[in-house]
Amino acid sequence: MSTAKCVGILTSGGDAPGMNAAIRAVTRSAIYNGMAVKGIYRGYKGLITGEIQEFKTQNVSNIIQRGGTLLKTARCMEFKTPEGRKQAYNKLVEEGIEALIVIGGDGTLTGARIFAQEFNYPIVGLPGTIDNDLFGTDVTIGYDTALNTIMECVDKIRDTATSHDRLFFIEVMGRDAGFLALNGAIASGAEAAIIPETSLENDQLEEMIKNGFRKSKNSSIVLVAESELTGGAIGIAERVKNEFPLFDVRVTILGHLQRGGSPSAQDRILATRMGIAAIDALLDDQRNVMIGIQNDQIVYVPFSKAIKNDKPINRELLNTLRVSSI
Ligand code: F6P
Repeated sequence: MSTAKCVGILTSGGDAPGMNAAIRAVTRSAIYNGMAVKGIYRGYKGLITGEIQEFKTQNVSNIIQRGGTLLKTARCMEFKTPEGRKQAYNKLVEEGIEALIVIGGDGTLTGARIFAQEFNYPIVGLPGTIDNDLFGTDVTIGYDTALNTIMECVDKIRDTATSHDRLFFIEVMGRDAGFLALNGAIASGAEAAIIPETSLENDQLEEMIKNGFRKSKNSSIVLVAESELTGGAIGIAERVKNEFPLFDVRVTILGHLQRGGSPSAQDRILATRMGIAAIDALLDDQRNVMIGIQNDQIVYVPFSKAIKNDKPINRELLNTLRVSSI
């Protein structure tokens, strides 16, 4: 049984729809279990500067449906230095915060891991990123909403692509992971996806053209995962213009609109379950673990595993896309 009487909560790195639902669940579960909760603004930055406020249950009312993060977020350079982390630790002691819940992606959990080791301090992480690239969890908070946003956008682009008989390369986020591109392509009926995970195995563009992907179609849509390995949508389109000049090519980069919007039911439920699990984990004396979900069961994943391993794509999905798009 943890003895923490006061927990701090922060969101850090890129925001993701569902972060608010997670903040709400953590806050309410902590209060339910007799703990005090302090909201830390702007991620690790606000921890260093002391932008901290006590949260009551009303502070998290009416936020489950909102995108973004009530606590704001930042990517903090100072926290990467020992001096910055020491300042952060001093602030925690000053505020009487005895454990931390951090919500974010790879960078956030990497920072948490270093800090937890350095100061022997209990931290529980929640996977909040649209990229879905954290190992040890089937899905991350925000991924489902982003996938739905991509699907809606591609549906719209499909209309104009069809009218003009065009080939569209649509770039989606994911950092170095192709989950959004691959599943976004399946969900929107795209003809192909170009993803970093298989970039070193074959020339995905050449293969696509060789297989006559456009044979019986007047428009085509290809989702391209942003990444140096894929070359991004602009890089791919340039190649097509040079190597296959007959195609009427256009590029759309979906960009940050993928990060916004009201979270889907899936993300709200996931974030709520994970938020409650984070407090349960602290009560269970777990520390330095990320809450994950595997086969609909909550699991604890050590930070070292969640961030160090590359999460593999499900290769069956490559075939699903290939077969469904002939
Ligand atoms: O990690 C989430 C993410 O949206 C990535 O998909 C993307 O590469 C990156 O963040 C963009 O970061 P920023 O908002 O700092 O431009």
